[in-house]
Amino acid sequence: MVPLSAPPCTLHITWKELLLTASLLIFWNAPTTAQVTTEAQPTKVSEGKDVLLLVHNLPQNVVGYIWYKGQIMDLRHYITAYTIDNETIIFGPAYSGREKIYSNASLLIPNVTKQDIGSYTIKIIKRGDETKGVTGHFTLYLETPKPYISSSNLNPREGTETVILSCDPDTEDASYLWWINGQSLPISRKLQLSENNRTLTLYGVRKNTAGPYECEMKSPVSSSRSDPVTLNLIYGPQVPRIFSPLTYYRSGKTLQLSCFADSNPPAEYSWTIDGKFLQSGQKLSIPQITTEHSGLYGCSARNSATGRERSAFKRIKVFARSGLGRPPGLNPI
Ligand SMILES: *[C@@H]1O[C@H](CO)[C@@H](O)[C@H](O)[C@H]1NC(C)=O
Ligand SMILES: *[C@@H]1O[C@H](CO)[C@@H](O)[C@H](O)[C@H]1NC(C)=O
Ligand SMILES: *[C@@H]1O[C@H](CO)[C@@H](O)[C@H](O)[C@H]1NC(C)=O
Ligand SMILES: *[C@@H]1O[C@H](CO)[C@@H](O)[C@H](O)[C@H]1NC(C)=O
Repeated sequence: MVPLSAPPCTLHITWKELLLTASLLIFWNAPTTAQVTTEAQPTKVSEGKDVLLLVHNLPQNVVGYIWYKGQIMDLRHYITAYTIDNETIIFGPAYSGREKIYSNASLLIPNVTKQDIGSYTIKIIKRGDETKGVTGHFTLYLETPKPYISSSNLNPREGTETVILSCDPDTEDASYLWWINGQSLPISRKLQLSENNRTLTLYGVRKNTAGPYECEMKSPVSSSRSDPVTLNLIYGPQVPRIFSPLTYYRSGKTLQLSCFADSNPPAEYSWTIDGKFLQSGQKLSIPQITTEHSGLYGCSARNSATGRERSAFKRIKVFARSGLGRPPGLNPI
């Protein structure tokens, strides 16, 4: 015997009892009335997470509740029921082994799987009034997980290497969409999508195709976009430029030159005068120059990742200080 005050107990009852109970409860079936509302918490659930199907505004004098999978309230779709009087939980053929019904009619579905997707119906059976029963429906969707982009090579060399980007995870029934720089992909022979659009092959990456890339995974009910991924394009160096604060130098002053070449990773620089090595480094500074420092200065920029090297030259003429004033048309330092 189960005392009335006992906490809810669960018991598997025999088929005969189940059929009896089911027919007894269905006896109370009636058209929808009242403002019973149902709500899923969270509204979208991802696989492996728990979802609680909440029932609000329960009517007075309730005898029990039955949850069905789908919208057909027959025995085959009977998940579980709760009877108020004896605080008994009953399980039906559609019970997965996980659902938990509470005394307030809410249903907890732990560790949601794909099989749990779909609609649910609750029937609330009221005491004494055989014509009034209440049903509520709602649909459980599986949320699309946030996808992420994997790349076969995150540091491709410009124009030479093929890169395969994939949008993961590979999910059945999902469709995939790609974006570059926030725009849909341009039509180009250099970009090729796989049959289901999950992988994107880039033949020879250039600056304008290095990204940022984003992918979107869509299911019939939800969609989710990845974080952006930009390829670290390895290029250069381009032809360097030599910068000098002055065009003409006088002896006794400091010669200052700097060099820049666009390159990734940044170039390593070295300086020459008339073809002879001077020093490494992006900046060249020689104090107390004399006319002997006149000559053809060369800057060479080298990128060890691409193995390429480019040079530029600048002719510098140092004027003697004791000369006849400043060179024509020039301002002093
Ligand atoms: C609990 O109550 C229901 C309906 O009120 C009845 O069908 C069922 O047999 C009872 N179960 C127990 C264990 O008393
Ligand atoms: C019903 O009970 C469950 C478990 O105690 C609780 O989490 C939920 O919030 C309750 N639902 C309502 C509508 O109060
Ligand atoms: C959830 O379900 C999966 C597969 O059905 C199982 O491997 C896992 O152990 C379950 N997790 C929990 C917390 O029950
Ligand atoms: C692949 O993407 C293109 C647009 O980039 C779209 O037109 C096409 O329908 C997609 N194919 C599939 C199978 O999703």
